[in-house]
Parts: sequence; structure tokens; C-alpha cells
Amino acid sequence: MFEERAQCNNLPDLLSQLSGAIEQHQRYAYPDAMTTVDSWKAILSQPVPSEGIGAEQVISEIGKYVIPNGSQMSKPGCSSYITTAATDMGSIATIAGIVASPQRVGITAFNYLEEVALSWLAEMFDLPEGMQGVLSSGGSTANLIGLGAARQSAFEQVGLDPANDGVQRACKIYATEHSHHTVHRAASVLGMGRKAMVHVPVDHMMRLSPRELKRLLIEGKKSDALPVAIVANAGSTNTGSIDPLQEIGEIAREHNIWFHVDGAYGLPGTLDPQAHDLYKGLALADSITVDAHKWLGAPVGIGATFVRDVQAQYKTFNQGAAAYLDTTTVQKEQVENSMDALGFPYHDLGVELSAPARGAIVWALIREIGREGIKARICRHNAMARRVADLVKKHPHLELALEPTLSVCCFRYVHDNVADLNELNKKIHRQLMKNGINIPSTTMVDNKLVIRPCFLGARTDWHHADDLVNEVLEIGNTLTS
Ligand SMILES: Cc1ncc(COP(=O)(O)O)c(C=O)c1O
Repeated sequence: MFEERAQCNNLPDLLSQLSGAIEQHQRYAYPDAMTTVDSWKAILSQPVPSEGIGAEQVISEIGKYVIPNGSQMSKPGCSSYITTAATDMGSIATIAGIVASPQRVGITAFNYLEEVALSWLAEMFDLPEGMQGVLSSGGSTANLIGLGAARQSAFEQVGLDPANDGVQRACKIYATEHSHHTVHRAASVLGMGRKAMVHVPVDHMMRLSPRELKRLLIEGKKSDALPVAIVANAGSTNTGSIDPLQEIGEIAREHNIWFHVDGAYGLPGTLDPQAHDLYKGLALADSITVDAHKWLGAPVGIGATFVRDVQAQYKTFNQGAAAYLDTTTVQKEQVENSMDALGFPYHDLGVELSAPARGAIVWALIREIGREGIKARICRHNAMARRVADLVKKHPHLELALEPTLSVCCFRYVHDNVADLNELNKKIHRQLMKNGINIPSTTMVDNKLVIRPCFLGARTDWHHADDLVNEVLEIGNTLTS
């Protein structure tokens, strides 16, 4: 029988016992988890153990059956999702937070580093002065927070208070069909409903059309629905396109509507001098999001929202006083212990009370390589997308769907003898997945199924651009020969 208290003894030692498996995973030495799925599932699917096996045995099982059957997403050639493996510093800082700051509250270095990290993000990405930031679990929550503040602001303008009284009017949120579906979900969670989404048509680069937006806003005035927000992409998930932020911002001001910019993926793109001008209109935004767990290489679970009207945000998300918290009764001048106060009240600006200390992770990532290091990564990835586009344009069996704006490049294999190119490209993608080295996703552009790499990982290097194109050609040639 293993002592219950043994659970809390020896973290450094236990971590060192795992180092072999971690190292193997980081060398991508393990085959895909599906190759042995039946055997590891059989080993792991057991009834609740009555007696424990002790820490060393659990570590051994983690090393043998869990880590080896982890995700392919950590591979440097994986460019499908807009998340990758954390950088080593991201992992270390996560452990530091878990060990030393189980909650983000209190007058601690961790709570303080949330302030520092948010101000660094705002400064690095040229965000408008005076916006208040808050960290949350990722882009889904970050969009929810921005749109929660937008809802409050819009309703207050017509004398209503949705935070207290609920949503009493039909709403409209304007965005393109390329807006991330978490925006639709936010509309649903905030009681406005998915039907509040109005899809604004896009131009040939998949960017919101300002002319169409104006038309829809004027048309919308004929209905009783309250216009709550215009949502723009600063880097869409599908194609990396950036909506014309300046023009949209001006329209939003003219119509007095909240302007939300989803930069979960693409906001760091502003560091690339070749893309920087596309972000000019950020100055007009009312709320902006960016995910540290995308281009910045943080472990999954970190997004940020910056909001101009912090009162609207506070009214939506404050949790009210709780009698069980001593901190609410200690006067400011009586604070003498790190637990006498909650530190900056981030819990009143989002949907979490308990939350990990995310700020220290973002701080550590930026501290490690600085603004210039992050800029170099972003420039490398954007240049890789352009490199793919160049290679594609030069080859008769490849076709570019769209010039890349950021680090996404959409293209497909073409062949005169093949009628169904969607089916052919689907097959090519299936084979890429099977080979497991270069792993892009697919998407639809103008009804064409295209191969879509999104270069993002800190470990993803120059050669992965050429490698992917060569592999697509190789597979395409075999399938059509
Ligand atoms: C533009 C954009 N917004 C929001 C999200 C949702 O982010 P998360 O998966 O962190 O919730 C994503 C995810 O890829 C995204 O690309």
C-alpha cells in the first residue's frame, strides 16, 4: 500500500525519471499512436485501482505507454493546426507556475508577471494605448471576452443592461465566413444566438469587403436587431488573410459599432516588415485578441484579450464579492502578506476565477529570445509560405489558390488527365498523413480542395517548405502515373 502523502514528495527526482521518454518524443522517435492503438488502449483501460502502484510505477507507465503515444502535432513538419509543441521554455515556465503559483491570484511574482506579459504583448504588437489586457485559455475564450464587452457596450447605448437583465433584443454581429467558428460560439454563449452572425462577402483574397459591409449595415437598420460588433480577422485560420482593418475600423466608428479584431493566430504578423502596414487599423479597434499558444510557442491554454472599454468588460465578467475570501475584508493599508490581496483582479475581466499563472509563461518566452527573436520566427514562417508559393508557381503540376499574406499557403496538385482534382488532392493529403513527416491540413478555397500548410512551430525550419512541396509532387506524380 502506498502512502497518500507520498504524492507530494519528490518532483525533481520524478521528472528526471521521465527524461528519457521526453527526449525520445522530442526526437520524434515514436511511431504514430494509431500504429499500436489497440495495445496501449488495452493496457490503459483498467478499472479504478483499489490499491495504488506508487509514483515510480506510474512514471514508468507514463514513459512506456503515454508519452510514446502522444501527438504528431509536435513534429516540426506538422503545419496543419495553428498550435504546435510548446518551446522548452514554455514547458519549464509552466512547471514553475504549477509548482510555485497554483493560482494566479495574490501579491506574487506570478500575478505581477501577468501584468508585465500583457504590457509586453501590447507594446510588441503596437496595440492602442490604454487597452486593458487579460489572459485566458485561448482564442475561444479570448473572443468570448471581447464580444462580451461589445454586447454590454451596445446594449447600454439603448438603455439596457444584458449582464444583469439578459439579452432582450435580437442582435447582429458582422463578420466574414472566414471568421473563426469560436466567434459564432461566443454569440451563442452570450445569448445573442448563432443567427446573430451576418456574413459579409469577401474579395478575391478572402478579405472582408468594406463596400459589402456598408451595404449590410444600412440594410440592417431596417430591422429592429441591435448591431453589436464587427469582427475582423488579423490572420484568418483558413488562408491567413487579413481583413482591411483601417477601412473596417472607420466604418465601425462611423456607425458607432464595436470593432473586434481576432488576431489569435495572426497578430504577431505585425512584426514582419512585409506585413506590418496591413495592421494599421488596429488603432481603431475596441477589442483585440492574440494567442500565445499559437505563434509565440506557449503550451496550449493561453490567449489574450485587450479591451478599450474596461468598464463594459468588467460589468459583463465581474464575479462579485465572495464572503469566504479574507482578502475582501483586508484594507489596502493593512496588506502585509502576499495573500492579503488578490493582486490585479483578472478574475473580474474574464470567465475564470481559478486559473493557472499564464503570465509567467508569456513573460519567459519573450524574455528568452526577445522581440527580435520572435520577429525572426514570424519572418521565417511568412517567408516559407512565400517560398512554397514561388515553387508552386514554377511547377506545371502545381497551382496556387491564393498569394500568401502570412504563413499559410494554399495550393493544389493539378493534372490534365484527372477530372476530379478535389479527390486527387484529398488522396495526396491522406498519403502525407500516412507518411507522417510533412503534415499540412486541407481547406476549401473557391470550392477547390487545397493543401494548406500553416508554418508556425518554433521547431519548423526553412527546409520544411521545400520538403512539403517535393513530397506533394512525389505523391501526386505516383498517383497520376
Ligand atoms: C483566428 C482564430 N481565432 C480563434 C481560434 C480559436 O482558438 P483556440 O483554439 O485557442 O480556442 C483560432 C484557432 O485556430 C483561430 O485561428
